[in-house]
Amino acid sequence: MSGKIIDGKALAAEIKKDLKEKIGDLKTKPKFAIVLVGRNEASEIYVKNKQKAALEVGIESVLYAFDEKATQKELENLIEKLNKDCSVNGILIQLPLPESLDGQALIEKIDVQKDVDGFCPLNIGRFECGCRNTLVAATPKGVLRLLENAGVKLEGKSALVIGRSNIVGKPMAMLLLEKNCTVTVAHSATQNLPELVRQADIVVSATGRAKMIKGSWLKKGAVVVDVGISRDGNGKICGDVDFESALDVASYITPVPGGVGPMTIAMLLENVLEAYLKQNA
Ligand code: GUN
Repeated sequence: MSGKIIDGKALAAEIKKDLKEKIGDLKTKPKFAIVLVGRNEASEIYVKNKQKAALEVGIESVLYAFDEKATQKELENLIEKLNKDCSVNGILIQLPLPESLDGQALIEKIDVQKDVDGFCPLNIGRFECGCRNTLVAATPKGVLRLLENAGVKLEGKSALVIGRSNIVGKPMAMLLLEKNCTVTVAHSATQNLPELVRQADIVVSATGRAKMIKGSWLKKGAVVVDVGISRDGNGKICGDVDFESALDVASYITPVPGGVGPMTIAMLLENVLEAYLKQNA
């Protein structure tokens, strides 16, 4: 058996085409601000990709780049200014921040209507309480869209989320729960990971550990979504899942690169448009 490869790049391109058309009909352009602090190569690449994709669909982006000496107060003042600026529809603080800063306190300062990352406690809490009118974190939202687009049935399935970050694992678990999956969350202290993987119909992995999950761990026909991005021993980009061995066992699998990554950006752009439309209703 060979699994079907879920093409995230192609779906993201379709979504961006649709966004471009919708944005072309608007009187003004949606705009979001990106706050980047310190020098982190991966963050710099992500930010560049977000800005490039925004430009392609007609969304304006403004980058506020600070060196690692930026203070909490300086950043708080910027967030307050951006909250008041009606021309800015979205605010995104690129993570991780330098350890000297309290990132959570900064995220909590963002106006809930402009929280295009969906990281503010009010957006998270409202979603968990059943409100569906909230901004949802881009990566888990993208994973769900990929699964739905591939026609994967979620209701009643056992889903294993590996990783419990605020950015991916926790919101992913909530989204799958909302789709009536039976959800297990595994993390760095989980002791029987291969056994849990073997029981899962759907595996979403976000650990950042290169090729940790082997095809032999998977249940036959499992759906595998790989959120990890690392480099293998040869310096080649790879995910959390050993793709070659998993492909023989899985029914569907996302590649790295070209799976979840492009969808995260597409979902961020969708969130910026959603924020704009709500602010201009
Ligand atoms: N760092 C890694 N992923 C993300 C993301 O989705 N949003 C932000 N703001 N920072 C990140």
